[in-house]
Amino acid sequence: MTRARDERDWWRHAVVYQVYPRSFADSDGDGIGDLRGITSRVPYLAALGVDAVWLSPFYPSALADGGYDVDDPRAVDPRLGTLDDFDELVAALTDAGIRAVVDIVPNHTSDRHAWFREALDGGPGHPARARYHFRDGRGPDGDLPPADWRSGFGGLMWTRVPDGQWYLHVHAAEQPDLDWDHPEVRADFERTLRFWADRGVAGFRIDVAHLLAKALPEDLPGEAELERLAPGEHPFVDRDEVHEIYTGWRKVFDEYDPPRTAVAEAWVEPHRRTRYADPAGLGQAFNFDLLRADWDAAEFRAVIERNLALARLTDASSTWVLSNHDVVRHATRYGLPQGTSERPQDGRDWLLSRGTTPSLDRARGLRRARAATLLLLALPGSTYLYQGEELGLHEVPDLPDEVRQDPTFRRTAGTDPGRDGCRVPLPWRTSGPSLGFGPGTAHLPQPAWFAQSSVEVEQQDPASTLSLYRSALAARRSFPASDEVVWHVAGPGVLHLERAGLHCVTAFDRAAWLPAGRVVLASEDLQGARTLPPDTTAWIDARPRRSEDTL
Ligand code: GLC
Repeated sequence: MTRARDERDWWRHAVVYQVYPRSFADSDGDGIGDLRGITSRVPYLAALGVDAVWLSPFYPSALADGGYDVDDPRAVDPRLGTLDDFDELVAALTDAGIRAVVDIVPNHTSDRHAWFREALDGGPGHPARARYHFRDGRGPDGDLPPADWRSGFGGLMWTRVPDGQWYLHVHAAEQPDLDWDHPEVRADFERTLRFWADRGVAGFRIDVAHLLAKALPEDLPGEAELERLAPGEHPFVDRDEVHEIYTGWRKVFDEYDPPRTAVAEAWVEPHRRTRYADPAGLGQAFNFDLLRADWDAAEFRAVIERNLALARLTDASSTWVLSNHDVVRHATRYGLPQGTSERPQDGRDWLLSRGTTPSLDRARGLRRARAATLLLLALPGSTYLYQGEELGLHEVPDLPDEVRQDPTFRRTAGTDPGRDGCRVPLPWRTSGPSLGFGPGTAHLPQPAWFAQSSVEVEQQDPASTLSLYRSALAARRSFPASDEVVWHVAGPGVLHLERAGLHCVTAFDRAAWLPAGRVVLASEDLQGARTLPPDTTAWIDARPRRSEDTL
């Protein structure tokens, strides 16, 4: 690959590390992670070997939804730092050869955003209301919501304001949805994209990219009817017009050299995902299929083959994700009994029981998580890692109610414990008020067992998960970034694929023989054996050995 192509195509096979800023590193001791904290840890990210860092929102916010309720998309939350701190962070990342990706939240603002305040102050009929979805209620006094739609965060999607009108919020009430038919909304977001692109940001992660376009008829369908609608017919999920917005954004991305990139968070059917990944649109979309898959060879293979085929259709590259800030950490999911529900192993029942039942097999979960990661990193496409997975962290299920922050906990009266358990601040050291996260106590309490998974412990241990991730990222770089995968015959419960001379064998529930060649890396210590025990992955270099080989 020539350098020019490499500059433009870096994202195709990148390893992108997600930083959840409030829980990564706290430089000033207020208990909330901040930009300077991240800057201080750039050497750690460089040693890990990631290509890019995706920063979850760091904008001013009341934190009604962990920062996804944005007061001002072109500013930094004063608790997290300043724009100068942001520039310093990007400079430090750039010096370390790491690109910065920021999170854009276009579907909604916070209820403290200047536009929403103007809309409230203006009253019914005021032009500022047209930037959102305001409606009169139903019933003689308008005191029934315009529709009975229920938010995934619990409660209704409509909230009434003091003058009697209602507004739409797909998420929490503090996150009013914008009306993307309004030209000012469109213009303002293009301004936001340029604002961050001008500051050296390489790409964008687009929050709930499938929700922006809305066509709300006078008579709104009821909740039951919504569920029966085919893709594309829904009044606000995955509408075809949403892609017009992204075609416009592509023009903005292409104003830059190299062009800025984007990845869509779009919870849609796989075949509809390709439209978000179109090179004339956002260019890449998250593939969450493995988040829903059991630890099962056949399921993994089906997901991998389908996504490689979809990537070929769009000339995008596939993406692979096992964990992020919205789901139960995968080491934990894989340590729970295999499920057959619609979302197997999502850990929900276990979270509800505060981690008591079903019983979690921590060691097995971590062993599978390590094997899964090596399998993912052998594939073409980009892999998105979530902070802490490189330490093999498990979910924290038993946070006290009073510290829980996720709006789903409050909005469901505790029926859904929410996502705080994967957002507990990282353990950097074995001691200190917040295990090296910062000089103060952390905004979510860390359990005592976090200390054993701290960076301090793991970086000294060649068998640790951190050491495995470092070795895997280094080895991955030494193989050509090919898009071609060849599947080799393997017995049931085993996957064996080859890419650019690298053989990757994963034994799910049965042991496997290793092919000939040098074992580059294995997710467990094989002690020289040529058999792979269950729940293990090995990489084998089957290329003819040359003296100049560095591996
Ligand atoms: C996305 C984010 C999630 C957030 C939601 C609303 O799904 O990943 O954390 O709560 O959007 O912005």
